Amino acid sequence: MTDATRPRTPGEPPLLELLRVSKQYPGVLALDGMNFNLRPGEVHVLFGENGAGKSTMISIISGAVQPTSGDLLMRGEPMRFASVHEARSRGVTTVFQEFSVVPSMTVEENLFLGSETRRGGFLAKRKMREEAHAILARLGFDLNPKAIVARLTRAEQQMVEIARAFRSELSVLILDEPTASLTDREADRLFALVDQVKAQGVGVIYITHRMREIERLADRITVLRDGKFITTVDASDVTQDELVRLMTGRVVGGIFPDIKANPGRTVLSIRGLTTASGSVKGADIDIRAGELVGLAGLVGSGKSEIMRAAFGLERAISGTVTLEGKDVTNQSPRRLLRAGFSYMPPDRRVEGLAMMRSCTENMTFASLDIKPIARGIFINRVKEDAEARRLADKLELHPRRPDRAVQAFSGGNQQKVLLARSLTRPISLYVFDEPTVGVDVGTRAAIYRFIGGLCEAGAAVVVISSDLPEILNLAHRAYVFYDGRVQDELPKARISEASILPLFFGKHAA
Ligand SMILES: Nc1ncnc2c1ncn2[C@@H]1O[C@H](COP(=O)(O)OP(=O)(O)OP(=O)(O)O)[C@@H](O)[C@H]1O
Ligand SMILES: [Mg+2]
Repeated sequence: MTDATRPRTPGEPPLLELLRVSKQYPGVLALDGMNFNLRPGEVHVLFGENGAGKSTMISIISGAVQPTSGDLLMRGEPMRFASVHEARSRGVTTVFQEFSVVPSMTVEENLFLGSETRRGGFLAKRKMREEAHAILARLGFDLNPKAIVARLTRAEQQMVEIARAFRSELSVLILDEPTASLTDREADRLFALVDQVKAQGVGVIYITHRMREIERLADRITVLRDGKFITTVDASDVTQDELVRLMTGRVVGGIFPDIKANPGRTVLSIRGLTTASGSVKGADIDIRAGELVGLAGLVGSGKSEIMRAAFGLERAISGTVTLEGKDVTNQSPRRLLRAGFSYMPPDRRVEGLAMMRSCTENMTFASLDIKPIARGIFINRVKEDAEARRLADKLELHPRRPDRAVQAFSGGNQQKVLLARSLTRPISLYVFDEPTVGVDVGTRAAIYRFIGGLCEAGAAVVVISSDLPEILNLAHRAYVFYDGRVQDELPKARISEASILPLFFGKHAA
């Protein structure tokens, strides 16, 4: 067996090296004596549970965060970047987990941010536009360079973030869960580009929780646990089960639970729904109590938009939404929540969480108007804290400190806070849009069990997902969306990759 922890050729310094690097946050040792090296022309995956320290590590490499102790070397020379900008100017470019695009600017302005193409002292707008078109075309991202970023979906914003990284001169490219909200097709384009830069000798650090991506991309894998270096292995020397065991320190069973279907009354019925924006065009769907229905389709297919419209986040111009037999078309989210409709958005920053508020406030926010937390118009803090602790336990929040601000938690743990919110009041319809974005394998299993439990307890459950295995393994029934319409409805027996994929592109089932 090769020693994967060593640089390939003796004497040749690695592109990048971390020696005993630590990062202490108040009360949390996020990184604890971490060791790591990156070779030119390799994809090096960082693998570890939510909160293991992956993002902290790349924040240090990319100049966003300063280490408390330890050494960083680039091509054998000591290195320390004072800022992300400085790192970028030295060829170290990062696509962060939480985006750094500027919402008020256009796509092209974001692409050239900090390095505007100048000619004779003013911006060469035309050249910028041409280059923006060229990059987006190379990536196969269908984005209008003139669009304002704030108006884009989460997936589209992620595309901007990625395109920006590929625009600069690279020697190290860092990608923190870059495919979290991309569809398979967009992800494949990204993988092809990673192959390209790799062939040019760029070293790529890639963070993902998805096995498929590790299999497709990884040359070596470094496993972290609790901020510590566990091991570095050659990707060809390790099985998936071994990786999960290394990551968690234990054996993890099957990820997908067997969820029993027991379809009862129709809880949600949508007829001929068309949204003002045209994102949904005359769609019909029904969701029954005791079943889990999957909504699949590409970004922009209408799979997310139909539920956003049902929950009052997009305006319907025709058609009806009926909840428990009552017409609730174009009602406010607040009233729908009171009527027993819970909607979990895919973007925890924009519509989901108040990042500077505590987890407790974020989790109990949905139930402040009901007992036991409400006491007249006052909030019962003791009950609120008890409730937050119960939820934190149930979803294994790590660290178990619901009193802390959401922004101090790792990406996967923020996701748990969002999930917890839906548990605080009586609900008959749960809609989860991309419920496992950014969560580790163990947590993913916990979230599926949790969703399955809601369904088996008699709730109607909708899972909207661009992660096909999620639809294949969980759904009792699936609707596939294309161009704002329901392209097909599949019963359990017909749900397979072969039958769903053609529908994504507007074809009919094989
Ligand atoms: N600004 C901060 N203040 C306090 N603690 C922090 C801060 N940022 C991160 N932490 C803590 O550091 C630890 C490592 O977090 P990090 O974000 O690096 O995890 P991760 O491996 O990227 O996880 P995920 O897979 O969920 O993204 C966690 O316990 C987290 O709560
Ligand atoms: Mg992270």
